[in-house]
Amino acid sequence: MIVGLGTDVLEVVRMEAELGDGAGFRDAIFTPAEIVYCEGMRYPALHYAARFAAKEALFKALGADGHAGMRWRETEVLREESGRPHIVLHGSTRELADRLAVDEVFVTLAHTAELASATVVLESRRESGRGRQRG
Ligand SMILES: CC(C)(COP(=O)(O)OP(=O)(O)OC[C@H]1O[C@@H](n2cnc3c(N)ncnc32)[C@H](O)[C@@H]1OP(=O)(O)O)[C@@H](O)C(=O)NCCC(=O)NCCS
Repeated sequence: MIVGLGTDVLEVVRMEAELGDGAGFRDAIFTPAEIVYCEGMRYPALHYAARFAAKEALFKALGADGHAGMRWRETEVLREESGRPHIVLHGSTRELADRLAVDEVFVTLAHTAELASATVVLESRRESGRGRQRG
């Protein structure tokens, strides 16, 4: 059962501007593994932007209330050998996902020179998975 859906799109120039202000922003938002991957690419800002979009999409999927309490580095975008991305959750973000009975997080990323996007789907395989309590 799908218990969450989120998407986000980001202008790459905005990410370039944030990254240009020094390593503080980068290190506050991205994990060491994410940084290693992005810095190894020809245009790092594209990949940072896609990962930022993935973190935002995840927060939307979880139904996180605005940005309050958001811990950026607890949502980590890693890569399989094929290049396919996956999300690993840590700390309180993992706990929030557990409370929503999330068993699997699906993510897909895309970027052009101008825009980066990400979509996240949360799946629960538990009978008791409450997902969103609607109506
Ligand atoms: C994987 C593929 C679909 C990516 O598409 P793209 O248009 O090059 O790039 P996009 O901007 O849409 O997506 C890039 C993201 O795709 C994701 N990706 C890469 N390989 C992937 C895979 N095997 N499975 C799922 N996602 C993948 C990555 O997250 C990547 O972003 P990242 O480098 O920041 O992690 C493409 O490279 C590919 O292999 N296509 C196969 C078909 C083909 O060769 N078409 C060309 C001739 S028509």
